[in-house]
Amino acid sequence: MGDRLQDKVAVVTGGCSGIGLATVRRFAQEGAKVVVGDLDDARGPEIAAEIGGLYVHCDVTDAAQVEALFAAAAATYGRVDVAFNNAGISPPEDDSILTTDLDAWKRVQEVNLTSVYLCCKAALPYMLEQGSGSIINTASFVAVMGAATSQISYTASKGGVLSMSRELGVQFARQGVRVNALCPGPVNTPLLKELFAKDPERAARRLVHVPVGRFAEPEELANAVLFLASDESSFITASQFLVDGGISGAYVTPL
Ligand SMILES: NC(=O)c1ccc[n+]([C@@H]2O[C@H](COP(=O)([O-])OP(=O)(O)OC[C@H]3O[C@@H](n4cnc5c(N)ncnc54)[C@H](O)[C@@H]3O)[C@@H](O)[C@H]2O)c1
Repeated sequence: MGDRLQDKVAVVTGGCSGIGLATVRRFAQEGAKVVVGDLDDARGPEIAAEIGGLYVHCDVTDAAQVEALFAAAAATYGRVDVAFNNAGISPPEDDSILTTDLDAWKRVQEVNLTSVYLCCKAALPYMLEQGSGSIINTASFVAVMGAATSQISYTASKGGVLSMSRELGVQFARQGVRVNALCPGPVNTPLLKELFAKDPERAARRLVHVPVGRFAEPEELANAVLFLASDESSFITASQFLVDGGISGAYVTPL
């Protein structure tokens, strides 16, 4: 327990699993009031009870539901200090450009990229009114590096999240609102496990490129998000915040 987010109100999308869930717990440990927005109505209320926060059913592709999520945070706790716009998908239909159809492309763009536009658009008015706020949007290391094991719409969506975050960080820098893109390397979450269970060879091909020799645990990402959310990162905005076990810095990895 600490006080690094004492008296701050944080909204986390995709907070019922993986990186989002670990962050929800970490934020609560540091004193934040946390509002979880997710589709998982089975787990959501349990998680809210565990952390003494609020669960709001929210499909992040739906503008009205996203507005209602941030409105619920402001109505319940009086402010919106942190928005961790993190919900995302990585479905198997999204693969090589040669086999990925338009429906799969569009679905991933909606959930991974349009959602971040909607969440930033909904969060910013509260933060601008307060004159303070920290937005963290989940991109990925694939926004900065190419992979031969392609998921074409996912990669393009994360590139969009990265450049949108950079632009918002620059635009609102003098109004007290920071916007950063979190770029995780591969993380041991249901999203990744599902993908790699289907194709162990693909998992092995990726693991060989990680200098630290393993995938991240969600808690390691949560610690980075906590830093970006807190005032400790007060001079960091418009950044691509890589938490990738050294992948993006490596040419040859250790044996
Ligand atoms: N796991 C990785 O290796 C990895 C690497 C880089 C980036 N990321 C990104 O991190 C983020 C979180 O990934 P994760 O691995 O924790 O995933 P996860 O599958 O464990 O959790 C995703 C959560 O988002 C929710 N969600 C999905 N669609 C939604 C929607 N339309 N509206 C609201 N909520 C929705 C799910 O219910 C779930 O709780 C994603 O944006 C993902 O692209 C993950």
